[in-house]
Amino acid sequence: MEQDQVSSNSNLPVNLKSRLQSSYDATAPIYNKWTAQHSHLRLRYVDRLLQFLPEASQLPPQTDEDASTVESQSNDSPFFRSLSGKLVALELGCGSGHPVTAKLLSTNLFAKITANDLSPVQIQLGQKASDLGSDKRVGWVVGDMMALSFPDDSLDVVVGLYSLIHLPREEQLVMMQKIGKWLRPGGLVLVNFSREDEESQVMEQWLGQEEGWMFWSGFGAEKMLGFLIEKVQELEVLVGEVTREEGGADAEFLWVIGRKK
Ligand SMILES: C[S@@+](CC[C@H](N)C(=O)[O-])C[C@H]1O[C@@H](n2cnc3c(N)ncnc32)[C@H](O)[C@@H]1O
Repeated sequence: MEQDQVSSNSNLPVNLKSRLQSSYDATAPIYNKWTAQHSHLRLRYVDRLLQFLPEASQLPPQTDEDASTVESQSNDSPFFRSLSGKLVALELGCGSGHPVTAKLLSTNLFAKITANDLSPVQIQLGQKASDLGSDKRVGWVVGDMMALSFPDDSLDVVVGLYSLIHLPREEQLVMMQKIGKWLRPGGLVLVNFSREDEESQVMEQWLGQEEGWMFWSGFGAEKMLGFLIEKVQELEVLVGEVTREEGGADAEFLWVIGRKK
């Protein structure tokens, strides 16, 4: 089947990652203000993700250090209470940590959240935020998500929203394969991808910003779902659907929730 071929390409912009970093460094406050209007959809998918969490009995024992970081319990259900403060998460391309890192923290389910972003400015904004900056459960990591490394079977939840779309599409698949290894059996991933099949989409002034050079890439919804099923064998796709953005953003993305088998 032609659509099952992952071809490598040479049509990518040069210095892609450093240009993306500079753009997000320059436009972070504008992007963050703009995206705050579209938070609902992200938060709804995070809620859906949490509903698929594994039973507490499948999780490793909690360490004393982890336990000391959990101060209160916001969710009253016995199921969520049993998971409180036990989970380890990774967020890829977290931006300034709003709304998703903050949402994950507010559940009190997590002992540790590694929050990664390519842009040091975005990370600094997160570190300065009153609801995130001093929270010891968050470990901020600046850099390309492709350079991250975690032991196999070590993460309970991985989230990457509107961030893997900035990787060249072949890297998106490699990233998903890495996530498949890093997750514990039963662990969950929530990511979204471009709906369009386009190897390289470039905009010179995204959000009307002079310094807003931007790049996106994707296999398209149908092909990407097929690749995930065929080439990321560790993961079972629980949700794979195209959803229209809310709040006036004229776009659709493929949303995926996967579970490590
Ligand atoms: C559209 S923003 C999304 C931010 C946040 N996830 C959200 O939902 O608002 C994309 C973010 O991904 C980051 N990013 C882009 N390429 C990345 C890469 N290779 N590794 C890590 N982060 C990356 C950007 O710096 C930016 O903060």
